[in-house]
Amino acid sequence: MAILVTGGAGFIGSHTVVELLENGREVIILDDFSNSNPKTLDAIKKITGKDFKFYQMNYLNKENLEKVFEENSIDSVINFAGFKAVGESTQKPIEYYINNVSGALILLDTMKKYGVKKFVFSSSATVYGDPETIPITENCKTGGTTNPYGTTKLFIEQILKDTYSSDNTWDIAILRYFNPVGSHSSGLIGEEPKGRPNNLMPYIARVAAGVLDELSIFGNDYNTPDGTGVRDYIHVVDLAKGHIKALEKLDREKTGLYIYNLGTGIGYSVLDMVKAFEKATGKKVKYKIVDRRPGDIAMCYADPRKAREELGWRAELTIEDMCKDAWNYIEKNS
Ligand code: UD1
Repeated sequence: MAILVTGGAGFIGSHTVVELLENGREVIILDDFSNSNPKTLDAIKKITGKDFKFYQMNYLNKENLEKVFEENSIDSVINFAGFKAVGESTQKPIEYYINNVSGALILLDTMKKYGVKKFVFSSSATVYGDPETIPITENCKTGGTTNPYGTTKLFIEQILKDTYSSDNTWDIAILRYFNPVGSHSSGLIGEEPKGRPNNLMPYIARVAAGVLDELSIFGNDYNTPDGTGVRDYIHVVDLAKGHIKALEKLDREKTGLYIYNLGTGIGYSVLDMVKAFEKATGKKVKYKIVDRRPGDIAMCYADPRKAREELGWRAELTIEDMCKDAWNYIEKNS
């Protein structure tokens, strides 16, 4: 029985496929390369020494998607396919809602048709909006998302809850990621944002590499220890391992809807990240303080206890690993 991984050539998808293959799972990747690179597929094979089936297609094409279910024995689906640039989502909301929400609906409808009911969904801490309490538990109120990207995650979560309420033979895990960074220690797969990066870590790495001049730190007047924004950065390999644990939970339980925060539980500020990066790599990161970025919140970090207790998972890699591995990827691929 195979696991279908939509968006399996992307940043988090490719790291998860590596972990799945290393755990002896059979994998089918579906990707349209709209925000990923075909060379990632070879890299996954090189890292794991294992093979997988691949379909180059967009999951919005129901006819093609059905063929994938016809041709294979699929028993679970992990959905990474989706647009993820927060800024772009405010410019192209319709495209985001179609690709992320309609895509998820088409996928679920197809799964239903073929009797496949085990589903792991890539959600985000962004569903908590400006969190009521810190650290954030899974019971914190969701809503108040500040951009269409975040709202697509919120909508899909609701669709999954409604789906489970209508038919409790579904077996669903919603994973709320905090801030994924770093890359596989081989340096063969990693984060490749198109154009100028919006997220902090890829930006820092490109300043260190001399590709970008300097980092703009968005505000140093937040109510945080050093005034800059605090986030829960998590190594993407730890995050990928969380998916394996979530699948194992679904295998054990057979039915249910489970929600987990995947974070470290530690908050680092923007300045902490700059300093950690400089220390781990020996590179200088030039920065200036500018105005706050609209939509940003002061602080966001997880209470990761539920995943620890129910999945037996915890993040193990450190901020130093995150910085070193992010830099290793840049050095090997520029
Ligand atoms: C954002 C999204 C989140 C998404 C995540 C992807 C929001 C509210 N959150 O998180 O949904 O899952 O990206 O990883 O939109 N910063 C700078 N200078 C920069 C870039 C960032 O100072 O050039 C600061 C930000 O102000 C923030 C921190 O670094 O305090 C992290 O920013 P970023 O990496 O963009 O992630 P989030 O905004 O937390």
